Amino acid sequence: MKEEMITQRKIDRKALFFIVFFGACILSFSGAYAQQTNWVAPKEADNMKNPLAGNAAAVADAKNLYIANCGPCHGEKGKGDGPAAQGLNPKPADHTSASVQSESDGSLFWKLSEGRNPMPGYKKIFSDQQRWELIAYIRTLAKIPKKK
Ligand code: HEC
Repeated sequence: MKEEMITQRKIDRKALFFIVFFGACILSFSGAYAQQTNWVAPKEADNMKNPLAGNAAAVADAKNLYIANCGPCHGEKGKGDGPAAQGLNPKPADHTSASVQSESDGSLFWKLSEGRNPMPGYKKIFSDQQRWELIAYIRTLAKIPKKK
């Protein structure tokens, strides 16, 4: 009788160990997923060319649009340090960074259009023209202006 209870407890311990162990595995796995992978636009997006690239009037138009709509997260100067940025995960992209500036216009346009949580997709909010203007504007934020 006593022996039976002891083996029973041993089994419970083993079961508990496995529950904790696998539980921890599942948690860390889903945690890694929640962290999200790098955001990559589909390759075809690179084929889209900005009809307003380098257009000064477009850039001027987009400035206010950018400050009012993107600034809260990306910061007025695009550094990813807007007032709403602190509470966000992932953090808003730094539009002045080499990694953003090295992406094609098409890739940035695709991301702006589709969005990814917590950033909304702007396909239905801004017209194609406005979105291309914003991409032209983002180019002016580069730390070192991109050479043509
Ligand atoms: C609610 C906050 C928020 C607002 C508003 C917002 N964004 Fe974002 N944006 C983000 C976050 C967060 C990311 C990074 C998402 C990721 O990496 O998964 C991002 C990423 C981007 C990217 C992709 C950068 C890269 O790494 O390739 C572009 C382009 C972009 N935003 C443009 C804009 C523009 C233009 C506006 C304004 C029209 C805007 N965003 C408004 C939060 C925001």
